Amino acid sequence: MDSLLIKGGVRLDGEVSVSGAKNACLPMFAAALLTSEKCVLKNVPDLSDVRFMADILSALGAVVSNPSKGVWEIEAREISAFAPYELVRKMRASICLLGPLSARLKKAEVSLPGGCVIGARPVDLHIKGMRALGCSVEIERGYICVDARKMRGGQVYLGGRFGSTVTGTANVLMAAVVSPGNTLIENAACEPEIADLCKMLVKMGAIIDGIGSPTLSISGVPRLGGVEHSVLPDRIEAGTWIAAAAASRGRVLVKGAQKRTLGSFLDILERAGCPFEIRSANSIYVDASNIKLRPVEAVTLPYPGFPTDLQAQLCALMTLADGISIITERIYPERFMHVPELARMGAQISREGPSAIIAGKTKLSGAPVMASDLRASAALVIAALAAKGETLIQRIYHLDRGYDNIDSKLKALGAKVERLKA
Ligand code: EPZ
Repeated sequence: MDSLLIKGGVRLDGEVSVSGAKNACLPMFAAALLTSEKCVLKNVPDLSDVRFMADILSALGAVVSNPSKGVWEIEAREISAFAPYELVRKMRASICLLGPLSARLKKAEVSLPGGCVIGARPVDLHIKGMRALGCSVEIERGYICVDARKMRGGQVYLGGRFGSTVTGTANVLMAAVVSPGNTLIENAACEPEIADLCKMLVKMGAIIDGIGSPTLSISGVPRLGGVEHSVLPDRIEAGTWIAAAAASRGRVLVKGAQKRTLGSFLDILERAGCPFEIRSANSIYVDASNIKLRPVEAVTLPYPGFPTDLQAQLCALMTLADGISIITERIYPERFMHVPELARMGAQISREGPSAIIAGKTKLSGAPVMASDLRASAALVIAALAAKGETLIQRIYHLDRGYDNIDSKLKALGAKVERLKA
């Protein structure tokens, strides 16, 4: 397993371009199963999760190719309905095969994804949604078994005790677009990634109203055609770079960072006294050379609230703020794997129930630390950039799942970073 060796104390300087959004392109790969015609996806990030999703589609029988950087072509002429455990268990996002397989083949068998380090990953809302579309759904032998022969439009409220469900909305949406009749999804996820998926589906011939809102109204069509679609920039990667620029007291232009999709995070940064400038609709400039961070209180919420996928990164940044910060996690209550690792680097951070309490301003010191999940790993990179001395981040396959060539991008910004091959 590779590690990342980072020498702290270097101010990031220059420009970084954000790659396409992981959490948009994964359901888009699944959406390509809805048609036998060719789908071309562009601006796809170079991630292990993307390569893995491509492998799953190939295992299902689709013809998948990657003719050039960022471009993937998918032709799902003949596909099977069985997504095996040994494939699905490695990536939760493969749950979003449920909708397309059910819609295309009138049946599906997708392994239950199992839990992961950020907590239990239930699928009750996914099942509720498929049942609302007239499917019969049973859990057998650890698989979600769907009989979609009677699938038709329906109405479903997709809100759970943690808000809506992103991949659950994607699943119901991808089934509803070719289900006869009208479908109404209430409390649908409003994440920009879902809106981008809707745009791709509309290009394929789907009829969807309310894109980007919590209420999606879909009129089913008999079939969908092929498509060419470019994936929107990854707002979570963009937020990660903004936090890294701030933590390293650097000066960085983050190209692809959109104020439109980062509003809640930018509001927190403004309250923290982080100096950023909206250069255009698609770029944000951070000049943190004289930064004096103030502590903040923040709570993760469904979009447009503060995204849970930036919670760990904010914790890392707030170790450098002068005072006590309280960061509360409302989406995944167990998502605090970064806390003990940041503490190893000298952070005064502790978990109190659903919150992390961070006392700053601390002088972080480099240390060997362990990556645990995608965004906790990003938090360790941010801390390592600000820390005195060297930090060895082990098991960075977690990072490679969601960040496109992060070490090359760091090096291009002047960071002293080295990828140590296992
Ligand atoms: C998506 O996961 C993202 N992954 C996650 O990003 C992100 O953290 C999450 O949405 C929340 O924004 C992808 O899009 C591939 P949810 P998803 O269903 O769809 C509960 C990253 O780091 N819930 O919106 O699996 C669930 O337990 C990853 O890029 C139910 O109770 O998340 C959670 O508490 C991590 N029942 C909350 O809802 C269900 O049926 C949000 O889950 C489904 C979910």
